[in-house]
Amino acid sequence: MKLPVAELHIHLEGTLEPETILHLAGQNNVDLPWPSLEELRAQYDFSNLQSFLDLFYANLAVLRTAADFQQITTAYLRRAHESGVRHVELFFDPQAHLERGLTLAEVISGIRAGLETGLSRWGITHKLIACFWRHAPAESAMEILRTLVREKHAVDGIGLDSSELGYPPVLFREVFAYARENGLHVVAHAGEEGPAEYIVQALDLLQVERIDHGIRCLEDPALVQRLVAEQMPLTVCPLSNVRLRAVDTMAEHPLRRMLDLGLKVSIHSDDPSYFGGYLDANFDAVIAQFDLSRGEQAVLARNSIEASFLDAPAKALLFGEVNAWLESR
Ligand code: ADE
Ligand code: ZN
Repeated sequence: MKLPVAELHIHLEGTLEPETILHLAGQNNVDLPWPSLEELRAQYDFSNLQSFLDLFYANLAVLRTAADFQQITTAYLRRAHESGVRHVELFFDPQAHLERGLTLAEVISGIRAGLETGLSRWGITHKLIACFWRHAPAESAMEILRTLVREKHAVDGIGLDSSELGYPPVLFREVFAYARENGLHVVAHAGEEGPAEYIVQALDLLQVERIDHGIRCLEDPALVQRLVAEQMPLTVCPLSNVRLRAVDTMAEHPLRRMLDLGLKVSIHSDDPSYFGGYLDANFDAVIAQFDLSRGEQAVLARNSIEASFLDAPAKALLFGEVNAWLESR
């Protein structure tokens, strides 16, 4: 039995496998600068967040129709099911797709169709979160958010992603206020490459319900105290942090310190097709590196469920599955 978990930090666009990229390029007549699998794979050596984002955004050129979104969402959920995912809160970047002439309705209806397949085939429940680019003007985010609300698109929350350094959360204060006023959940990437101060801003100015990454909180002891006291969820992505050089090696990853400090951390995969593995691979890496006991693995799973936007009865069912896992050996 796989450890039952909620996947809360996963970018749909970061699940595009190289083979799928080339397949869709052929199908949709898109010319990529790296036409063979070998040439494409040679690009996957990153020096920082931006070097990854440049490739990640370029590859999105292959996504052209609602059916493409449905297909990649279903493919992701098939793989997520194998790694024990019971609930997913899926990120997507609307700006990346509108830029290429798709409509919000095409993107969202395709993703939703895939999510429904995940529910009926594998019993994976879901929420959908539209992430805004912090490197783009806040006006662009606001315009899309107003459309999402006005046209009643089926999204459950908003997030904030892309290049972090130089784009502090304060820039998106009005966007997040508008989302909260309209009953949307709010999360933000902060403290991945950016300083602890960006985490403080995300909490105070955006009033987020979770921090995505947040590993640089350790540079500010007062912030750590606050995050512990508030039991603020931090969605940590170990393989991503190593591949994007936020830390040099897994041995230097702060997960063990974060757990020992009492921070509410959970483990996630971020962009699994780019960083060497899905949720199970992230768990395997930290279990091996930090010698995590089954009890500690269960804490990480419970934290992911607790930090999700599921209602209390749905959370209780998943906590029951974690208990069954603990008793299963
Ligand atoms: N978009 C996709 N993955 C991301 C990450 N790790 N950080 C910021 N933006 C992203
Ligand atoms: Zn991310």
